[in-house]
Amino acid sequence: MTGRSLRWTVGLAAALLCLGTGGASLAEEDAAAEVDCAKPILPCTACHSAAVTKAYAKCLIKRWEAPAEARALKSPFPVTPKVLQFGKATYEIYCDGCHGPLGDGKGHVAIKWEVPVVAINAPIVQAQTDGDLFWKISNGRGAMPAWGALLPEETRWQLTHYVRTFKAAASQ
Ligand code: HEC
Ligand code: HEC
Repeated sequence: MTGRSLRWTVGLAAALLCLGTGGASLAEEDAAAEVDCAKPILPCTACHSAAVTKAYAKCLIKRWEAPAEARALKSPFPVTPKVLQFGKATYEIYCDGCHGPLGDGKGHVAIKWEVPVVAINAPIVQAQTDGDLFWKISNGRGAMPAWGALLPEETRWQLTHYVRTFKAAASQ
């Protein structure tokens, strides 16, 4: 997903959203009123409707906990170099625009469109179990899309294992 025409499309979509509602702030107010943190944004709306995505910032006020039964979930897939390689490839397509290549929350889409994103290399995230992270990736909350609707279970475990590599990188 690179190239000038792609950027134009996103820019144009944002511009149309502003035109259609008579200004970015009005669009943001409408979007903010409709936000329900328990119903996460759709994967494709997340980056393609900046005004809507921004409104999900309020979801971050309350700490996100996975349910107790998610904690004990174990990956059926052993961690191999191949699994991490697949995880990285998927991460680069769907995640690093928001969370950044290092998982520090400084993705280029997030910075450009002020997406309210979090650092997933942080100790508070890395201290969680694989089950917690897999559940969160699958179910989403607020501006974090529910990837379970789009990506198969195996891919979500690959992502979970790949997200773990940020822990090692962050402590170096
Ligand atoms: C992490 C943010 C992000 C997510 C999530 C995302 N996109 Fe994108 N998308 C972008 C960006 C940024 C571009 C523009 C790329 C560029 O200019 O280099 C883009 C470009 C595109 C384009 C190309 C537009 C063109 O001009 O050809 C299509 C189509 C597209 N996205 C569809 C989708 C669909 C479908 C989904 C859901 C599966 C999705 N996107 C999810 C950020 C995202
Ligand atoms: C549109 C931006 C966006 C995209 C794209 C995105 N995320 Fe997130 N992610 C978020 C936000 C925002 C949160 C915090 C949600 C909350 O706490 O309400 C989050 C939270 C998380 C968490 C849990 C962090 C915690 O606090 O425990 C994990 C793990 C995660 N994301 C992984 C991923 C993975 C893997 C992908 C790609 C499949 C992805 N994210 C794509 C925005 C995004």
